[in-house]
Amino acid sequence: MAPLATATRLCLRSATAATKPAAVRALSSTAACQAGGDASAYSSPFKLKGESKASQVPDFGKYMTKGNETTNKLFSYFMVGTMGAITAAGAKSTVQEFLVNMSASADVLAMAKVEVDLNTIPEGKNVIIKWRGKPVFIRHRTQDEIEQANKVNVASLRDPQTDEDRVKRPEWLVMLGVCTHLGCVPIGEAGDYGGWFCPCHGSHYDISGRIRKGPAPLNLEIPEYDFPEDGKLVIG
Ligand code: FES
Repeated sequence: MAPLATATRLCLRSATAATKPAAVRALSSTAACQAGGDASAYSSPFKLKGESKASQVPDFGKYMTKGNETTNKLFSYFMVGTMGAITAAGAKSTVQEFLVNMSASADVLAMAKVEVDLNTIPEGKNVIIKWRGKPVFIRHRTQDEIEQANKVNVASLRDPQTDEDRVKRPEWLVMLGVCTHLGCVPIGEAGDYGGWFCPCHGSHYDISGRIRKGPAPLNLEIPEYDFPEDGKLVIG
């Protein structure tokens, strides 16, 4: 087997040596052709005699730019800049449309505000309304209750807040009916402080909705509201 392998290797080497000059000749003839012929034309070094025109490499010379390098660069920069600006404008309008689609519709916005007729709530009574899916307590406080709320030593409170800071009109207390401990709905006119009592874990709120006893850390939250005219309350 060894003599056969050696013979094969020798054969291959001699074949390679025989083809080398031909390739070198082909390259030299190409260079000569390029140097002597038309600079814009290119003849394939692999063209055979009698070869059809379809297999010839075409001349792209007429597609080459006639302008100088600076003009070409300016054109490229202009094209890149313009395409960038168009892309940015498209992206902006896409994002804008997406945000408009995601924003609240007119019916949802209408629900964002609730109007309450205060003339229907007698003094000393609570009313609970639903606003944005949450209960809102509205209390028409008596003069006694207002005085009681103002008598409290604010410094002794867990979440110190004066009654004045919690109401726009002393007779109307408006607050979210959501316990600040874990979100239960407290019961009105109950508890040790004559305000609200959360039975879930025993939080007591006073007549100003301030936490006085139990695990709740904060006073009942005051929502955004206004009195656009006498006898009318708008929440939201
Ligand atoms: S949720 Fe009200 S006391 Fe816990």
